[in-house]
Amino acid sequence: MNVNGQPTRTIAPLPDCSGVVIIDQTRLPFRYESLTLRGLADAAEAISAMQVRGAPLIGATAAYGVALALNEGADLEAACATLAATRPTAVNLAWALARMKAVLAPLPAGERRAAAWAEAAAICDEDVELNRAIGRHGAGLIRAVAGRKPGPVNVLTHCNAGWLATVDWGTALAPVYAAFDAGVPIHVWVDETRPRNQGASLTAWELQQHGVPHTVIADNAGGHLMQHGKVDLCIVGTDRTAANGDVANKIGTYLKALAAHDNGVPFYVALPGPTIDWTLADGRAIPIEERRAEEVTCLSGETEAGEVVTVRVTPTGSPAANPAFDVTPARLVTGLITERGVCPAGRDGLLALYPERA
Ligand code: MRU
Repeated sequence: MNVNGQPTRTIAPLPDCSGVVIIDQTRLPFRYESLTLRGLADAAEAISAMQVRGAPLIGATAAYGVALALNEGADLEAACATLAATRPTAVNLAWALARMKAVLAPLPAGERRAAAWAEAAAICDEDVELNRAIGRHGAGLIRAVAGRKPGPVNVLTHCNAGWLATVDWGTALAPVYAAFDAGVPIHVWVDETRPRNQGASLTAWELQQHGVPHTVIADNAGGHLMQHGKVDLCIVGTDRTAANGDVANKIGTYLKALAAHDNGVPFYVALPGPTIDWTLADGRAIPIEERRAEEVTCLSGETEAGEVVTVRVTPTGSPAANPAFDVTPARLVTGLITERGVCPAGRDGLLALYPERA
């Protein structure tokens, strides 16, 4: 996707494989800054501090983290264990590490380093193609709505499941970009997504970069908009989808799905194959990350003087809880948009698209 008119991926190796360049997402939307990861510790810190975030990008960064670790002569198993411990919910992390291990472990030590860089690059290139296909399939749903009503198609999304959350294109936003680029009139309601405001900070920023009409709303506004016919469909991403179609996504997704269900608004979840955890029969066992209370008690923003500051919004001493994800049961999901097509959210629907998993 374009940043200031330049085609940009969220992660890219240096040509001499001495480092990996990322966009520091903790600085957006106020500052657009890149950062070079030079070793295993940098990669692990980038994931846990959320300089990179979003399930597919976490997986891609972990893959490059392994390559960086091998540059430093680190042990493969130990490096994977360090990276695996960074964040618990997005299954793409474990998926990418398992893939790296499967390719690298059988190789002689002297061949592993070059193979790690090649495999990480392959994971990134594949992610772009998976998301492009999700965009194609999801755009069909948006086009179908456009054919039934005048004016723009109003899509509501939660968190950031756009190109910043992947290597390129995004998952939930890939259909939006594909439809917009094809000339379908579209407008996106962007949930602010407290506590870290990925919607207000990241989704709004990337939609603006691409020129897609959008409006940021407080998280609590979605139900009201749905009651008044102002949302045609919801599309969100997911960090881990169980084999029965239950989906874990950013905290607050479940409430949006309930509101959509109550108002007859279609609720779609967009995901690439690596986000499906076939080992989990349902969503109850998905590990939910608990993050620091300060993400709830404090907010960051830019002053009129252009300084980025953090302020507290709760009384000193009030405790805060910060579950970062929730699980939406498959029964509230209208359909799953994957790189292989759109299916009903359920075991049969998923197996129809991924028969090799039967
Ligand atoms: O905590 P985050 O910002 O990593 O959470 C991201 C999300 O919840 C996304 O919706 C999800 O990873 C899907 S991204 C394509």
